[in-house]
Amino acid sequence: MKRMLALLLALMMCFSLAACGGGGDAPTADNGGSDAQAPADGGGDAAPADGETYNIGVAIYKFDDNFMTLYRQDIQAYFDAENEKAGYEKYKVTLVDSNNDMATQTNQIQTFITQKMDAIICNLVQTSSSEQIVNLCVEADIPLVLINREPPGDEKDADGNIIDETAKVILDNPKVCYVGADARQSGTYQGEIIASLPDKGDRNGDGVVSYVMIIGDPENSDAQYRTEFSIKALKDAGIECEELVAQVGNWDTAQGQTIAANALTQFGDKIDVIFCNNDGMALGAYASITAAGRTVGEDIYLVGVDALEECVEMVNNGTMTGTVKNDDVGQANKACEVTIELLEGKDIQNYYWVDYAKVVKE
Ligand code: BGC
Repeated sequence: MKRMLALLLALMMCFSLAACGGGGDAPTADNGGSDAQAPADGGGDAAPADGETYNIGVAIYKFDDNFMTLYRQDIQAYFDAENEKAGYEKYKVTLVDSNNDMATQTNQIQTFITQKMDAIICNLVQTSSSEQIVNLCVEADIPLVLINREPPGDEKDADGNIIDETAKVILDNPKVCYVGADARQSGTYQGEIIASLPDKGDRNGDGVVSYVMIIGDPENSDAQYRTEFSIKALKDAGIECEELVAQVGNWDTAQGQTIAANALTQFGDKIDVIFCNNDGMALGAYASITAAGRTVGEDIYLVGVDALEECVEMVNNGTMTGTVKNDDVGQANKACEVTIELLEGKDIQNYYWVDYAKVVKE
């Protein structure tokens, strides 16, 4: 009899443990050895019986990116705060590093789908793959919030029809959206910062603004637009410009440094301005500028985008001419808010835009 009771008790314990474990489709991290903050299990011990837990898969194009590091920390912080408010782990976030590889990212999204995530936030590696990723999520009926890398355009033809297939897929689907900042604006602001200098950027006074353009990466419309619109703003202000070098630095500090060093060796004092598509590369360019014995503000100008903390300091102490605030917190908060709206079955917009802001010396 005693033995029977013990057996019964053991059985009951097994059942209650299984219930706590959260079932078979609980997500696990697929983070390729990164420092993803994956949930320990599918259960959420603190969850009251009536509290629902939503599983959210977040794929970041590359963890090793200055700006996206801030952004993913902001996402985590947002859901941590929501969990705090709820008093239990209401949102379980699984962050994965796509290691700058589209095939890896596609696998990760497929894994999220198999794991039956309730929503997916994706920072695409390649925007040319957006249609494929959108379709995967739409077929699985999982809400998708794309962030940071704008899928190919929502430009319209003369009849007002959307030209691009991806944009159509996004606009046609009530559970897909893009949250970002309009990179045209950041480029324009960079150009305006230079155009509003007393010498309008013509540091060596030869009548032409000769510049070096350090480009993010060709897959990212942020890079394309910043490159195009910074110079457009100068030209729109009636300033004559000459491109000395335009080279891809993949948003990376070390590559920015090399490109700037080579340009400074080749063109020396001819260079008036170094435009960088982001602050990470501007930090690299700055190192090469000082190594070449040049002084920002005195014989050369340097602008970036993002307003990383150290770059804002540099702007304030004059070692950078200006930067443009890329609002990681604003974008992350919006992306999380929309994700929650989607989880609650609310109607959303397909595009959300967060403003940039100029950062110049006060
Ligand atoms: C940021 C870059 C970042 C890139 C990643 C851009 O918006 O300005 O710093 O490397 O996003 O996609």
